[in-house]
Amino acid sequence: MAEKNNTLLIVEDDRGLRSQLLWHFDQYHVITAEDRASAVAAVRKEQPAVILQDLGLPPDDEGVEEGFRTIKEIIALAPTTKIIVVTGYHDYENALRAIALGAYDFYQKPVETNTLDLIVQRAFQLYDLETENRRLSDSHNSPLSGVIASDPQMLRVCRVVEKVAPTAVTCLILGESGTGKEVIARAIHNLSPRASGRFVAINCAAVPENLMESELFGYEKGAFTGASKRTLGKVETANGGSLFLDEIGDMPLPLQAKLLRFLQERVIERLGGREEISVDVRVICATNKDLEKMVAAGTFREDLYYRIGELVINLPPLRERSGDKILLARFLLKKYAGEQHRPILGFSPDAVAAIENYEWPGNVREMENKLKRAVIMAEGKQISAADIGLATCDALAINLRQIRQDAEVAAIRKALSVADGNVSNAARLLGITRPTLYDLIKKYEIQFTEPENPKD
Ligand SMILES: Nc1ncnc2c1ncn2[C@@H]1O[C@H](COP(=O)(O)OP(=O)(O)OP(=O)(O)O)[C@@H](O)[C@H]1O
Ligand SMILES: [Mg+2]
Repeated sequence: MAEKNNTLLIVEDDRGLRSQLLWHFDQYHVITAEDRASAVAAVRKEQPAVILQDLGLPPDDEGVEEGFRTIKEIIALAPTTKIIVVTGYHDYENALRAIALGAYDFYQKPVETNTLDLIVQRAFQLYDLETENRRLSDSHNSPLSGVIASDPQMLRVCRVVEKVAPTAVTCLILGESGTGKEVIARAIHNLSPRASGRFVAINCAAVPENLMESELFGYEKGAFTGASKRTLGKVETANGGSLFLDEIGDMPLPLQAKLLRFLQERVIERLGGREEISVDVRVICATNKDLEKMVAAGTFREDLYYRIGELVINLPPLRERSGDKILLARFLLKKYAGEQHRPILGFSPDAVAAIENYEWPGNVREMENKLKRAVIMAEGKQISAADIGLATCDALAINLRQIRQDAEVAAIRKALSVADGNVSNAARLLGITRPTLYDLIKKYEIQFTEPENPKD
């Protein structure tokens, strides 16, 4: 397990209080800052787990705007950091505003170290827990080795792969470009008894028609001009392993007949050769073409279609996989940031919304390309929608609604806990009427316990 983050940042402009806190929290690795600029610099440099931040910071020491600005900048930079805001005595309103901005908790002056100790300790515990959860969920999101998915349809695909892999059944994988057809084909091979054999792929769209036959079945010396020595075809080299016929929808008709013969009899003849050679391979096919339509149009042999499609696996496009977009994006971001040695931690909220809303016509492959570029382009610790090259306009609207709701729920929870479950007092804290608060509690289904003897 990774080493625990033991860093506490104290942001306090009062020198006396600062050094008092510094000495007090000597069980942590404490760093200090006296204003917004030095606080943000410290977050960049040291990535503290917990921050204890005075809300009244210079230059408007008596006001709090600079304090709010500091919170916003830190949250944007390091969203997982737990900020505990220190406010003036009875300054609930600003404390709640800070919570709504994403601060974790608040504490009111004058400082009473025992209580503060507890709050800080809990913040560290929560930070550890969340870090551990993220680590676990990262490693649990791979239902099949090499396949990142949590969408129910994709999980079904993974179960089919597990079932069909040990058999000799010929599989046909259908899906748009970039949906992971080759990933699934390799997974079938790797889970099969042929895993130690070769996985030989041939892209039927990439080989010129006149070379396809020799590419597939090989040739004898002298079979045609330039055939200077016997050469094995892809089918023969896959003997004992799996043969992946990619883009099978692009195979020319004359070759479809020869392929069918091989699939039925499992023997090949090299070009210019006379003997039949039996080959033992597992065949996996893939295409992004609509084969049924091609059969109807006469461009794909119906008998071949039924022969290769003993088992059809349909890969849904990325836009239809619920929850997978951001899951894949996080996985890929981690991968590329690691490869490029960039200390990028995650996506900004606008990037998350943009990733969710974008249609991804090029599917996973497009996401790979966009994120590779974003990792190189990003300036800060977070990738923004602009870094990925995605528009934010409508994405932001949806996102803003979510942010507002989250903020409201957090503020209401906090108010209820501060008021010890007394709804009238909580409503007063929030500056709304009691019926309004009840409505909100119902709307967001907030659980809380009312005191047994309410005082009013
Ligand atoms: N579920 C997934 N988890 C992780 N990586 C994936 C997943 N699906 C696809 N990829 C990655 O996306 C890229 C495209 O996948 P792949 O080549 O298998 O797609 P394809 O359907 O064969 O595309 P094409 O039709 O363009 O050939 C690959 O780099 C692959 O590693
Ligand atoms: Mg492919």
